[in-house]
Amino acid sequence: MALKELPDYPWDLMAPFAARAREHADGVVDLSIGSPVDETPELIRTALAAATDAHAYPQTVGTPALREAIVAWFARRRGVTGLTVDNVLPTIGSKELVAFLPFLLGLGEGDVVVHPRAAYPTYAIGAAMAGAEALASDDPAEWPENTRLIWLNSPGNPDGRVLSVDELRAAVARARELGAYLASDECYAELGWDAPWDADRIPSVLDPRVIGDDRRNILAVYSLSKQSNLAGYRAAFVAGCRTVVGRLTNVRKHAGLMLPSPLQAAMVAALGDDEHVAQQRERYRARRELLRPALEAAGFRIDHSEAGLYLWATEGRDAWESIGRLADLGILAGPGHFYGDSYPEHVRLSLTATDERIAAAASRLRAFGDSL
Ligand SMILES: Cc1ncc(COP(=O)(O)O)c(C=O)c1O
Repeated sequence: MALKELPDYPWDLMAPFAARAREHADGVVDLSIGSPVDETPELIRTALAAATDAHAYPQTVGTPALREAIVAWFARRRGVTGLTVDNVLPTIGSKELVAFLPFLLGLGEGDVVVHPRAAYPTYAIGAAMAGAEALASDDPAEWPENTRLIWLNSPGNPDGRVLSVDELRAAVARARELGAYLASDECYAELGWDAPWDADRIPSVLDPRVIGDDRRNILAVYSLSKQSNLAGYRAAFVAGCRTVVGRLTNVRKHAGLMLPSPLQAAMVAALGDDEHVAQQRERYRARRELLRPALEAAGFRIDHSEAGLYLWATEGRDAWESIGRLADLGILAGPGHFYGDSYPEHVRLSLTATDERIAAAASRLRAFGDSL
């Protein structure tokens, strides 16, 4: 598929449902797009403000302080040891990297990009932008010989599914057999809810239990948008195989894809502080604890969702019908149709609304459940 054939942006289809939800007397509760609603922590804003004299071009690879902060964060928060500054690279949010990775790796016609069956849509868009073919599959045995890039996403968007060390190992083994690149998108890794992920660290693909000390062709992609309420800053990074990171750096230097230096300073502050991440996690936990049982009371079954920022719910009917029923309660969700062809009866509800709005949604859902 050539660039000109990209599909229309799917969220535009939500306009009539948004109009319906806005008619609710107590106002809309928008749980459709996972855009953070809580404040960017003060220490990050202060670091940004202190770095506004930015007369020189920023370095594509990042400042030494940022590269070191990313390495230290991987060791401290993800149990990923052995990285050096040559294994990491900042990106301008992770969506651009997800969309451009097949192109940046030189993929094209005849190549396959594998992504999860329930998937963030940008994996398939990235394949299309490079002229490659996207394949939705969670089963390494199904991945064809011409697979050049495999996307994993753990915890998953939209389904909150976590891949265990064994599942990651199986994916890596198949990628090695195919000679393919493997990129694991891990931006919800700090948001584990159900056992064992409430206590155990959610594994990174770069965890030594997964890859030993062999990072060849393996990348982890991470974003500070959610854990640090930095979606508006565009602050993310990629880490892993130093050869691939070097290649990405070279193309990105030529293309001017570099992170503004004030943002690099803000990222150093964000990566160095675990306290604000823990606070944000507790906000999302409280919202999830209100919303989840209320959805169940209204007749929804929650699948996976053991981690991450979303509840992946079904009431056993077409998702557009569920979206309509929720819109009548003034609640906006996202239909499973936006995340591939495999889950037409699921809807995704994001935990990114204020406590007050989540409480409003929960009480409407409970009242609806009582009326059934
Ligand atoms: C799975 C996944 N990857 C990547 C992104 C992009 O994050 P950002 O571009 O804000 O870093 C998102 C955002 O929702 C996501 O859900």
